[in-house]
Amino acid sequence: MTVLCSFLISVLAAADFQTVGAIKSHRVQDDRVEFAAENALLNIYLISSDMVRFRYTQRSEFSEAPSYAVVASPGSFRDFTLVEEEQYFEIRTADLMVRIRKNPCRIAIYDRNSRAINEDDESFGVCFDCDEVRCFKKLLDDEQFYGLGEKTGALDKRGNQYTMWNSDKPGYSDREDPLYVSVPFFIGVREHKAYGIFFDNSYRSCFNMGASNRRFYWFGADKGELDYYFLYGPQIQDVISSYTALTGRMELPPLWALGYQQSKWSYYPESTVRALAQEFRERKIPCDVIYLDIHYMDGYRVFTWDKERFPDPGRILSDLNAQGFKVVPIIDPGVKADDGYFVAQEGLAGGYFARYPDGEVYQGEVWPSWAYFPDFSRPETREWWGEKLSAFVNQGVSGFWNDMNEPAVWGQAVPDIVEFCGGVSHKKIHNVYGLLMAQATFDGLRRHFPQRRPFILTRAGFAGTQRYAAVWTGDNIAREDHLRLACVMCQGMGLSGLPFVGADVGGFIGNPSQRLYTRWVQLGAFTPFFRGHSATGQQDKEPWAFGEEVERRVRDAISLRYRLLPFWYAEFYRAAQTGLPVMRPMFLNYQQDENCYSRDAQFQFMLGEDLLVAPVLGEHDDFKKVYLPGGKWLDFWTGEVREGGHWTVEEAPIDRIPLFVKEGGIIPMQEVAQFVGEKTARELSLVVFPTASGRYSLYEDDGVSCDYRSGVYSLTDFTVAQDGQSLSFKVERRHQGYQPQREHYLLKFFDISALSEVQLDGVPLAAAAEEPPAAPGYFFDARHHAVVVKVPCADTLEIIIK
Ligand code: GLC
Repeated sequence: MTVLCSFLISVLAAADFQTVGAIKSHRVQDDRVEFAAENALLNIYLISSDMVRFRYTQRSEFSEAPSYAVVASPGSFRDFTLVEEEQYFEIRTADLMVRIRKNPCRIAIYDRNSRAINEDDESFGVCFDCDEVRCFKKLLDDEQFYGLGEKTGALDKRGNQYTMWNSDKPGYSDREDPLYVSVPFFIGVREHKAYGIFFDNSYRSCFNMGASNRRFYWFGADKGELDYYFLYGPQIQDVISSYTALTGRMELPPLWALGYQQSKWSYYPESTVRALAQEFRERKIPCDVIYLDIHYMDGYRVFTWDKERFPDPGRILSDLNAQGFKVVPIIDPGVKADDGYFVAQEGLAGGYFARYPDGEVYQGEVWPSWAYFPDFSRPETREWWGEKLSAFVNQGVSGFWNDMNEPAVWGQAVPDIVEFCGGVSHKKIHNVYGLLMAQATFDGLRRHFPQRRPFILTRAGFAGTQRYAAVWTGDNIAREDHLRLACVMCQGMGLSGLPFVGADVGGFIGNPSQRLYTRWVQLGAFTPFFRGHSATGQQDKEPWAFGEEVERRVRDAISLRYRLLPFWYAEFYRAAQTGLPVMRPMFLNYQQDENCYSRDAQFQFMLGEDLLVAPVLGEHDDFKKVYLPGGKWLDFWTGEVREGGHWTVEEAPIDRIPLFVKEGGIIPMQEVAQFVGEKTARELSLVVFPTASGRYSLYEDDGVSCDYRSGVYSLTDFTVAQDGQSLSFKVERRHQGYQPQREHYLLKFFDISALSEVQLDGVPLAAAAEEPPAAPGYFFDARHHAVVVKVPCADTLEIIIK
């Protein structure tokens, strides 16, 4: 046996395969403990009591290169102890114990009750194979994995292997990997307890979550350091909050970006765009944004307009703005290699493009034919790009759509030797190219228009992209499997720190049936980013293109989105604050409920805490299997109260999808508007599903400026409390930096079977004869067990229902 082992070891050594080896020395330095082992250096940084960074290198020192993903400044956390025993070291914080075995060096992490949370594989731990780095972790039988960004397949990534290499995959399959975005972060869940691992390495990397073996899972990269952060939960929500504290959070987008958006490759000429805008308004289908795809440009030259198709861009943009439309043009990174074109000339003169190591500027082929690629890793390039964008904003565009920024080129293989940032190879920059382009766009807009909230949509991205942009899931297909993918992928991306996500509604490639299109809009209306888009050469996919019945249903779905905008906006505010997604897998809110992890549960989701959305994802289905977690649930459509804790099959006729309000839920709504800012909402209606106690905090501000950052916003708390005798509902404005122009509240309390009196601040209200009451008062709808109360707005008020 000994002979065999030493033979194996010598074979491994000959194959350049090395593990870390035994620890030789250590020292404590401020916030970290530094270990020197036989074959590598290991630094362990204590970031907080529940976050630890492990960093290994085989070089003589650690790289000084900054992280593209991490924005949290190095902390000053010192609240840990290090103890040395004969066999191991132990680092303890208030929440964690990290045991570092000496020989061979292996990591095991325990919670404060000494329960093992995560351990290196006994034999491998961290390994090196020439440039390649890998970390092997013990795989437990019941361990599930979530996250990893934009990935196809089921929400649970267990049993599969994934690659991080941003890729342009038009018409991808429902198992395709990789796609456009790389987020090397995942959440491990065991016995309903969670931890996260963020592998901060932008080279091509790989995550084997127990594919083809049951011994370990591993992650690793072609090159770079084995540098990962361990984030302890045990709440999944805490893991995501920690991850986004590290890599940044979404800023609050302009409110109009939560409205419906219409795109197509491409709307042109100008008369077509005008007609499109007119149709929306005439047909009373709400819409806030129109996209201009690549045909608006002069020969696909970015920052130009085709003079024949759009002779006077300033005029059409201002006319559309006057109709309440924002216009978002596409901006690809490829700059046409054309001597007479000012962007190419400026880029060459400024040295802003990526180059080969011999100094020649790299050219790849994409829409404009041969093109140069801006080196967004250089601050000078980002600044220059920002100036170009600002000229466009001054003409009247409201945001930017960054596409093809994987970067995509025909042939899909930018040569690896192409250099960025004065010598950093494409191997390292590829996965962060989209992130850096979005950063250039965001920073440019911030710099030139400090009072406006930037809106950016990107296709490619990396960990941290949430700081700059919304993401859509690229070139999907008008097929049922892609409708399901849209539902599941958006949830997976939300778990990966990207809350502002959506898929092309209706499917980019192919022609959906009437039913598929309808179901897609009904789902899209509940995804954070809500845009209809279509490839060139397909049938029309605007809401009226499928006949009158479809148009009516689609109008209803989009209108419901607009009625719910106060709710969406408050949920976006919370996502910006906490990093948690708006569109949440069931288990994120019900972590202890086993049913919420089941395969079927991934086809429904929660919006925030209070709304359960069960989209119909089968083209021909008129029903939906739904899991209602324990507690009572209010059917949003009928007002019927349901007992949860089991699966049910709900009727879902083609005009609606099942929606439920959680017990204690309070859902703010408003009248439909045709676009954000069309009119001042005089009334805020609230759906209230009373329980022993419930609460909702409504966030409001002007929706466009950055004044909210200096306190110009309003936070209003609504609370409901019920005992056997009476129900109390209170309004309290907690933060009053912004004054909504509202006149009254229209409150609809459900699950009320009898009442004798309704009081406002101790004074009885008059009973009204109709719903809604025309004046302050209440209407009791005995048949639906609901009371509708209309009261004037006030900063504080209390309604008692006896
Ligand atoms: C890419 C984009 C798609 C766009 C097309 C033309 O395929 O993913 O959304 O319409 O390019 O610009």
